[in-house]
Amino acid sequence: MRITPNNAGLGARIEGIDIAEPLSPADYRTVLRALGQYGVLCFPGQDLDAPQLAAFGSRFGTLEVNVANLFHAPGHPEVMILSNQRDAAGQPIGLNDAGQGWHTDMSYSTEIALANALHAKQVPQRDGRPLGDTQFRNMHAAYDDLPAEVVERLEGRVAVHDFEKFWDVMRQRPGSIRGPLTEAQKAKKPPVRQPIFRTHPITGRRVLYCNPGYAMWIEGLERTESDALLEYLFRHQAQEKYLYSHAWTPGDLLVWDNIGTCHNAVADYRPEEPRLILRVQVMATLDYAALAA
Ligand code: OGA
Ligand code: MN
Repeated sequence: MRITPNNAGLGARIEGIDIAEPLSPADYRTVLRALGQYGVLCFPGQDLDAPQLAAFGSRFGTLEVNVANLFHAPGHPEVMILSNQRDAAGQPIGLNDAGQGWHTDMSYSTEIALANALHAKQVPQRDGRPLGDTQFRNMHAAYDDLPAEVVERLEGRVAVHDFEKFWDVMRQRPGSIRGPLTEAQKAKKPPVRQPIFRTHPITGRRVLYCNPGYAMWIEGLERTESDALLEYLFRHQAQEKYLYSHAWTPGDLLVWDNIGTCHNAVADYRPEEPRLILRVQVMATLDYAALAA
């Protein structure tokens, strides 16, 4: 196994390993540590079916079954399908607008996510160049650079995160096939409180855990001050120096840290430029500090 970090401060390629085979204990630990250190890991040239992707993902924690559970691999509700394609009957075969806007998966849930693992089967192309990049921001670095007075003001505070905020943003996008959340879906995903700063379970370092997709307000502050501080945090994390864009190649398995990064799907491709991705979401259910030690 060879790990080649990007020069972006975020992201690394890991080659020389077949993810269809179970990871050895030593490789498992190396991958886990790399996930904390680099935030986004690309394993190129993989060829995984839904059960193999689920088997890999479940080594790192319990796999989530999405509340809206729109599209999944047959017999595998934990393996979501992301696609802009339709079947012969004209029905969508996958979720066509996942993650289009900056967010952190599962920050709207009391139990947060450790990671996502996405495996590209088809990548849209135009003029020989890949489209549909997934972009990331480095929330370790964003925390480290915060002015001391901001850290002091926000340390120990929580923000309220709401699943419906980002759902409704995505619903407004042209071509969205999402309906409004039903009362039953909303009841399963009530707003939750999240600390604005938390300690990353793999690196042991502090991260900024507050994203524009789901964070609504900061508890215990006047709404105007809360709005201003959130606006500040969102602008701060949006600086170019924290950005890494992953340009996909079919066969990539991309595993990203959902505690130390936030992400955005770039919607720059059209229906005739096919995208097909298998996805699992790994909940933070294990003792990663112990596993990475
Ligand atoms: C996700 C997501 C981004 C993409 O799967 O959580 O945000 O580029 N996807 O598909
Ligand atoms: Mn996402």
